[in-house]
Amino acid sequence: MTLDYRYPALSDLRARAKRRMPYFTWEYLDSGTGEELALRRSRESLDAVMLAPRALRGAPVPDLSCTVLGRQYARPFGVSPVGMTGLFWPKAERILAANAVRHNLPFGLSTVAAASPEDVADVVGDQGWFQLYPPESIDHNLDLLARAKAAGFHTLILTVDVPGPSRRERSRRSGLQTPPRITPRIALQAAMKPRWSLEILRHGMPRVRSLEKYVEKTGNGPHIGLGRHRAPDPEFFRIIRDAWDGPIVAKGVILPEDALMLRDLGCDAIWVSNHGGRQFDAAPGSAHALPGIRAALGPDFPVIYDGATASGLDVLRAIALGADMVMLGRAWLWGVAALGAKGADHVVHILTEDMKSAMVQMGISRPEEARALLWKP
Ligand SMILES: Cc1cc2nc3c(=O)[nH]c(=O)nc-3n(C[C@H](O)[C@H](O)[C@H](O)COP(=O)(O)O)c2cc1C
Repeated sequence: MTLDYRYPALSDLRARAKRRMPYFTWEYLDSGTGEELALRRSRESLDAVMLAPRALRGAPVPDLSCTVLGRQYARPFGVSPVGMTGLFWPKAERILAANAVRHNLPFGLSTVAAASPEDVADVVGDQGWFQLYPPESIDHNLDLLARAKAAGFHTLILTVDVPGPSRRERSRRSGLQTPPRITPRIALQAAMKPRWSLEILRHGMPRVRSLEKYVEKTGNGPHIGLGRHRAPDPEFFRIIRDAWDGPIVAKGVILPEDALMLRDLGCDAIWVSNHGGRQFDAAPGSAHALPGIRAALGPDFPVIYDGATASGLDVLRAIALGADMVMLGRAWLWGVAALGAKGADHVVHILTEDMKSAMVQMGISRPEEARALLWKP
């Protein structure tokens, strides 16, 4: 049986990933903060998007290519930065970077991933977007940016929705501590998933390799990524703007006035996101926030979206609401934890085929044509 029959939807990969990962790693990946209302709202806000299929359009040939921030990509979707990616499946960062190169998609690497920019430099090609969680010291920020640039990353993502750590209750209940510690409970959960444990033994315990160099100097802070964390403000943004000569994307924007402020400070794109529901439980769903931000910025300013995307149809829904590019966080890890590198390919396959199928139903050949077909009851 082909993969397409065994795992026709991303939810099938999700189910297999859950079976293969230790409980604490699953809980860390899957959970939001608080009662997980913001997480649910992102799903509900996408579910609420209806698109009207058009009649008598013949059989359109879908074209999914797109240009974002001056670069052509094969599909309007890519990889959101995810911390400790290598904890969900060893070497997940390298697998996802290589996958992004194979399929010409953008690949976001988190500051607090288990791989540093140098660790993926030989596989990331021209697809790299580096996400910055600022260390406290400006010198360390500048050094980190220079390292990302030297490793081939051309686009900078500044995450603006993490002024401080959030309470991740579900993660805590699973036994996961910050910074992570191997307690008997964690060791037992790991022992129950021998394939994952063997892979971890083979490749070594995941660590926050980008920041290790600085943590030696400043000591640990309260932030998940270890090391002391700086909460970004406009002054910090100006410093980063001066230091980075490529595009800067502000990630985690919900309010239209913040989008305008960031644009005026020199941002090149706005990334609408509620951080996968992981930071603030009263936040609206990402797709609740997207139309207002698109309206404020006008039709031409680049807008990126993430939140609860779990199908090609979801990608189209976000594009219909105004996104130019849709990034996915958890879905890539479902693929990799379920099937390794083949799983990352399969995520691309499912998203692509599902987008094409939906576009044929709608009678459109370009994703942005979905904007005219938004159903407003
Ligand atoms: C386990 C996990 C870790 C994350 N770590 C980061 C991070 O280090 N930096 C960041 O900007 N966003 C981080 N995010 C948020 C994602 O980039 C993205 O906004 C979110 O996952 C999108 O929702 P989705 O997973 O439903 O696609 C993380 C999300 C998850 C699930």
